[in-house]
Amino acid sequence: MDKIIFATGNEGKMKEVRMILADLGLPVLSLKEAGIDADVEENGTTFEENAAIKAKAIAKLTGQLVLADDSGLEVDALNKEPGIYSARYMGHDTSYRIKNQSIIDRLEGKSGPERSARFVCAIAAAFPDGRVLTTRGTMEGRIGYEERGENGFGYDPIFYLPDYGRYSAELSLETKNQLSHRGKALRLMKERLHEILDRQ
Ligand code: IMP
Repeated sequence: MDKIIFATGNEGKMKEVRMILADLGLPVLSLKEAGIDADVEENGTTFEENAAIKAKAIAKLTGQLVLADDSGLEVDALNKEPGIYSARYMGHDTSYRIKNQSIIDRLEGKSGPERSARFVCAIAAAFPDGRVLTTRGTMEGRIGYEERGENGFGYDPIFYLPDYGRYSAELSLETKNQLSHRGKALRLMKERLHEILDRQ
């Protein structure tokens, strides 16, 4: 194995991924850098399944070690919605201002721990021989009463971290990477890959 492909077209994610995986000592390529133009349907029922579907499809195409992620927001009082449908919640093209307001509105009358929520990220690694590993990271918090902060993306402006007294969109990129579901899942995956690659 002489490289890793990370199945995303998102440059922001690639920056974070490259930073965290740097000490594996293998170049990490995005789909575009690997010259792959593939649209894989995420029809799984869990974050892990969706990440594995993506990673396996690209590993089959390329014969390389491929990592993929799937992430989203789970709101406990909403039966863990929007969950794996986080990007598609209220339609792909609906703005996050509207999606975020809808979640705040649906929690009307709830306070404190009744507003608990978490970001979840699953990372899958698919090996050329068909093996698949998955890891999961979470970031626990609560849904706030209004949007706050200018950083981050998606649901960050309504995600309040009680332990830090800040909204996720108020964190610097460095702090978010340290605390985030994606950072945690990726660091766990890195440990697993270290063990496997060291044995080869
Ligand atoms: P995907 O994993 O790229 O398919 O994206 C999942 C969706 O979950 C994103 O489009 C966001 O709506 C939401 N999401 C995942 N991680 C975060 C985060 O760190 N902050 C805010 N929203 C997130």
